[in-house]
Amino acid sequence: MLVTGKEILQKAHEEGYAVGAFNTSNLEMTRAVIEAAEEEKSPVIIQTSQSAITYAGSTEIAMIVRLLAEEASVPVALHLDHGTDWDVVMKCLRDGWTSVMFDGSKYEFDKNIEITKQVISIAHPMGVSVEAELGKIGGVEDHVKVDAKDATMTDPDEAVEFVEKTGVDYLAIAIGTAHGVYKGDPELDFDRLKDIKARLNMPIVLHGASGVPEEDIKKAVSLGVNKINIDTDLRQAFKKAMHKVVKEQPDVYDPRKMLAPTSDAIKEVVKTKIRMFGSNNRA
Ligand code: G3H
Ligand code: ZN
Repeated sequence: MLVTGKEILQKAHEEGYAVGAFNTSNLEMTRAVIEAAEEEKSPVIIQTSQSAITYAGSTEIAMIVRLLAEEASVPVALHLDHGTDWDVVMKCLRDGWTSVMFDGSKYEFDKNIEITKQVISIAHPMGVSVEAELGKIGGVEDHVKVDAKDATMTDPDEAVEFVEKTGVDYLAIAIGTAHGVYKGDPELDFDRLKDIKARLNMPIVLHGASGVPEEDIKKAVSLGVNKINIDTDLRQAFKKAMHKVVKEQPDVYDPRKMLAPTSDAIKEVVKTKIRMFGSNNRA
């Protein structure tokens, strides 16, 4: 069933587990993620970046995800990931996303508050939940690029003020993860996470979670992370499976036969993450 992000994440916050938010840009990836969630009896969030929307078409990708979500036996939310463009955020609200992220992390604190508030004033009456970001997460996620030197951790005092002034439903915080492929193991600031969670007492979002060691993910979940974004790990699984088909079955040229192993690979990654995040059997 298709639900809002808040419906999924408020329960995760109250019961102490995290739900995976997996990026998609087509039918095959969406179906793989939903099948994995159904097999694990887990709620799931399917998210689209702005460039995935440009690639697939807003109406088209919304129809694919919404239809598969409505038919699913588990709760599924359709979320806009890193919405930095006002017009794209508004289009997603019109086209049926059930959750949007307004990413105002490139703005000064007050400006981020101001625009986030405006988004919420439109989204909430439409029944759509809103995520915002405070602090700057390093690395590259499609059109969002932040140099390591410009990445900044979330300030707990600012987080409290930000949430009070905006009324945002869940907050993405910067505690040392980064988008894309890590060069070494990331160093997560767990004390900061603990402090922010204690003071906000609301769903917390972790970006850049691909490649983060399992014990760090589990610790982050135990300290209050409730939404975990995964993109790079899915892309890498896709590439590896596609490479294998091309190499081992050079005579195959049917796109369906070439894509099937990529879907299986994505499904396996999603199932592993779901169990790691503790959302299995929570649907
Ligand atoms: O917004 C999406 C993510 O934060 C994904 O990060 O590519 O490192 O998995 P990742
Ligand atoms: Zn992200």
